[in-house]
Order: sequence, then C-alpha cells, then structure tokens
Amino acid sequence: MALAQNLTAEPGIADLLAARPSFKMHAQDGLCFEGTPLNAIADSYGTPTWVYGAATIRARYAALADAFTNVSLHPHIHYAVKANDHLAILNILRQCGAGADVVSAGEFLRAQKAGIAPANIVYSGVGKSPAELTAALAAGIGQINVESGEELTLLSSIASGMGKIIDIVLRMNPDVDAGTHAKITTGLAENKFGIAANDIPALYAGALTLPGINPVGLALHIGSQITSPAPYATAYAKAASMIQHLRSHHFDVSVLDLGGGLGIGYGDEPGLSLAAFAATVKREVGDLGLSLLLEPGRYLVGPAGLLLASVILEKQTTKRFIILDAAMNDLLRPALYDSYHGILPVSPVDFQRPATPADVVGPVCETGDSFATNRHLPPLAAGARVAILDAGAYGAVMSSPYNARPRAAAVLIDHGTTHLITPRQTLDDLWSHEQIPA
Ligand code: LLP
Repeated sequence: MALAQNLTAEPGIADLLAARPSFKMHAQDGLCFEGTPLNAIADSYGTPTWVYGAATIRARYAALADAFTNVSLHPHIHYAVKANDHLAILNILRQCGAGADVVSAGEFLRAQKAGIAPANIVYSGVGKSPAELTAALAAGIGQINVESGEELTLLSSIASGMGKIIDIVLRMNPDVDAGTHAKITTGLAENKFGIAANDIPALYAGALTLPGINPVGLALHIGSQITSPAPYATAYAKAASMIQHLRSHHFDVSVLDLGGGLGIGYGDEPGLSLAAFAATVKREVGDLGLSLLLEPGRYLVGPAGLLLASVILEKQTTKRFIILDAAMNDLLRPALYDSYHGILPVSPVDFQRPATPADVVGPVCETGDSFATNRHLPPLAAGARVAILDAGAYGAVMSSPYNARPRAAAVLIDHGTTHLITPRQTLDDLWSHEQIPA
C-alpha cells in the first residue's frame, strides 16, 4: 500500500523541472543548468561529469543568511566540508563569507587551501587522532567540538604541551529522533556521537580546570536531511535548558553550535523551510545572548550539482532497463540509502516522448548499482544524456574507482562560463601509485 502511494506520488519530469529554478528546458538546446546547455558540456567534457552551478550556491547561502537576518539573528555559517570538499566549491563559499566545519586533517587542509582562515574553522568528529589534533592546534584552529571525556583529556595534554589554550564546545547528544534515514541520524542516545546530557555538567566543570582548555559552550548535530523543524525544536530546547543549568552554576556559556542537517527536496516537495527553521532557533535559543554557529552542508550545495550521464543502452527483459555510463561508484547514495534522485532527459525531443517505467542502472556488477526503480522515462537511445539531480552534496566525495572505473570529471558553471575543475581520471591514474613487490 505504502509502495503504491509512493509510486503515484512520484513526481513526473515536468514536476521535477518546475521545482528547480536553476533548470530550464530550451526548445533547441535542451536541458540547461544556470543557462548552460548540458549537451554542450557533455560534448566538451564527456560523461559521466559532475556539473556544479556557482550562482545556485551563492543564492542558497544568501537565502539561509537572510532567513536568520529576518529574525534578527546572525549565526556564523561554517560549511560542512564533507558534503563537497572540492577547492572550487570551498572557494565560492569562502567568498560568500562561510567558515568551515571539518572532520579530518585532510578537510582542515582543504579548507585552508581554499583560503578559509584556521580561526574560522571548527573541528567536529567522534575520533580525532592525536596527530590531527596537534596539526589543528599548530595551525591555530578556531574551535574544537569535543565528543567525549577521553577526547577532552587527550586534547588538554596536547594543547598544554604545546603551550596553547583552545576554545572548545562539548557536543551534547540530546537523544532526539531527527526523523531521517537510520544511517544518517546522529542525535539518538544509541548513536556513537556526542556526550550524554547527564554527563555534560561534570565534564564542563572538569574542562574549566584542565590546562590548555577553554570551554565556551555546547554543540549539537542531530542528523542529516531533516525536513521538519520539530526535531530541531526539541533538541534546541534541551540545549537551552542545559545552558541555563550550566549558567546557574556560574559557568560561562557563550557559544552554541546548532549543527547542520537542513534537508532539501529531492523530488518536487519543498525542503526544510528556512523561515520555520530560523523561527525555531529564535524561539528556543534566541534570547540567551549566545554566539550561534551553523554547520550546513547538503542545503548549500546539494541542489547546486548534478551528475551528467549518457545512456549506454536500453535492454528489455521482464523489465525495462536503462543502462548509464554512470554507476554506484560515482553516486553511491541510491545504493547506500535507497535515496531518491530525480532524473531528467537532456534532449528536448526525449522530453516530449511518452514516459514508461524503467529501472535506471549503472554498469557495475552489483544488483545494488541502481539509480532508480520503475522510474517513468521516455525511450532513450544509446548516447542520449540524462541529468541525475541534486548530486552536489555527498556525490563526488563519496565516489570510488570500484570496478576500475576512473573518477568522473567535474565542471563549474560561473557567470555563464564553464570551467573544468577536475579533469577526468585516466586509466593510468588508477594504478600509478601501486607497486608490485620484487
Ligand atoms: N555537522 C556534523 C557534525 C555532521 O556530522 C554533518 C553531517 C554536518 C554538520 C552536515 O550535515 P548536512 O547539513 O549536510 O546534512 N552521506 C549522507 C549524509 C551524511 C551526513 C554526515 N554528517 C548522505 O548522502 O545523505
């Protein structure tokens, strides 16, 4: 029953297009993204290719900042680098004014290579190694989000050994169900993330006595692809009462890191309402005189990217299959989370033809290598191009060379010009660093 409802609720090609202002179907040029025909990009750079739009990123950043300005709040936006760590993307977000939220030494260096000052970077994550903490402190990182008592002790000994004092916040696990996919929920007591609320007061008091540590507040991050403000409200209310409790013990609490997780519409539905989200933050924690941080990833870059692919062939067994030159090694999300991504034909002719159900799959030798099941699409000849939508977040970063498939190229459209930002990997690149023992 649920499945039947989902199928009828599935958006058609026209619905997907109507919900995405960055896309237009042009009668001659076919599907255009930020005014650039995708067929021209495929002709120049081949497929599969990641296509990113700078204007879309800038517009989304501005919309997020504006939603908070409208409620008289000005959180510092620290882009979650894990969503898309390409230097060109980080550079755009730096120009918008973003800092960074990183979870590894590699992300920390990437953010700096894109010109983001270490002081504007916060470091999250449940298992930061001593080497990573040392490197972050040496470079002058702004804040470390501590996730356990063990990490606090380790950080104190490293920082004091280096003669540094580091601002930290404690990541509280609020035990709230974010109502998202089980693999990307992080704020439940059973998840590995954060510190149980009961343990926060003693750890905060302990942190005040530890050398090299300056506790300034709390952090939360309850999950990803959250489309309702309700779980945020519950989590932030718990943070507010914890802050009041800590302050009642005369502890200074000046920072609250609100985390990320802002969900987008992958079909034709709206994502999380920014106005409702900002109003929730205002209501729950807006009067506490806090310096607020936000760590959005997907919201900023998800709709700003697509995976451009070509049809290798269509085959008919008991079902209709459309086999693309892109696969699960490029975009893993459907295989890993059963996630929905819209798929649009690029040619204006294909757009007009009647659509029938097909499974859209890649050439990788796994049944899970599937982008869509029973998706209504027109007949697509070999060589026809399709755009797999909303692939700007957790797309290229999660790709691999599985099945000895070179990593896809990436281009960035900016002010009407298409820039190659990652050349397609060559076959030689795949084994150039491997060695056969003598
Ligand atoms: N802050 C922290 C501490 C995080 O762990 C994450 C994401 C974010 C911020 C950014 O969350 P966002 O705003 O992007 O939802 N690969 C999955 C998503 C994993 C998210 C992991 N943490 C996917 O493809 O859906």
